[in-house]
Amino acid sequence: MKVFVNKMIPEIGLNILKEGGLEVIFPENEILSHKEWLKYCKNVDALLSIGNDFKYNKEFFDECPNIKTIALYSVGFDHVDIKEAVIRKIPIGNTPDVLSRATSDVAFLLMQAVARRASYNFQKVKDGNWGSFDPLHALGQELYGKTLGIFGLGRIGFEMAKKSRNAFDMDIIYHNRHRNEEAEKELGATYVSFENLIAGSDVLSVHASFTPEHKELFNQAVFKKMKSNAIFINTARGGFQNENDLYEALISKQIWGAGLDVTNPEPMSSDNPILELSNVCILPHIGSATMEARNGMARLAAENLVAFSKGEKMPYCANP
Ligand code: DGY
Repeated sequence: MKVFVNKMIPEIGLNILKEGGLEVIFPENEILSHKEWLKYCKNVDALLSIGNDFKYNKEFFDECPNIKTIALYSVGFDHVDIKEAVIRKIPIGNTPDVLSRATSDVAFLLMQAVARRASYNFQKVKDGNWGSFDPLHALGQELYGKTLGIFGLGRIGFEMAKKSRNAFDMDIIYHNRHRNEEAEKELGATYVSFENLIAGSDVLSVHASFTPEHKELFNQAVFKKMKSNAIFINTARGGFQNENDLYEALISKQIWGAGLDVTNPEPMSSDNPILELSNVCILPHIGSATMEARNGMARLAAENLVAFSKGEKMPYCANP
């Protein structure tokens, strides 16, 4: 089976592909135009797909009829038309669990960075503007005993809730498609309606899978209902937020701050005015960027492809 791998991945994944007898094709250049990328995809049986620049939809499957499976190098699969893949019986592998800790670490880091105004203070140091001890300037807020609202309490949300509970004794409220009994039992998490989540959270952290009905769910109407001391955190997908509305909510102090690892669109333009604000911390989608998580992702993606090549079910499949 011929597999197109569009970027270099950790060795552990390459070894599994090699031992599984798969032929691996790398591009000559890692930055590909849509046309170049299609050219590679047309000549292989399978993809190990890194990044979400390219969409796997009806047009793609029509253009690349030889593709029999796609192993995503991500847990998220919002760039795949899953219904279309099901119709065509194309299994879509993904990489759950292995990045839950790393991604929730970034949510936890952003929560603290915004609460203590880390970006603003770091910029002051870089600008040679350290200043003197000032009892009233650049004061942050403490997180102890505050309420953390989780939108989407799956694996990553659970890890974020656990850290926040253990470190800051935060009360956990959540809104989700299903009740999470483990979180209710272990963390004392309380299921609430979406309205109560946005109105009751001191920190609101987004961890749901992104689907079209979530598009810009966090918009002016929602920010208006949040507390004035609230911190908005998103490490899931940038499409959850309307960024103009978020900017307005931040400058008008409707909410206190925002920490984003994902933006809408990505990459965020370097002249986006939100970057000038003192109450934000913005990172370039690094949730899973640890050696441990990336090794795990390489392993799962490669195991998915080897299983498929042997006619077995993929162990981690988004459309089982
Ligand atoms: C994922 O796995 O969906 C992440 O966003 C990639 O880092």
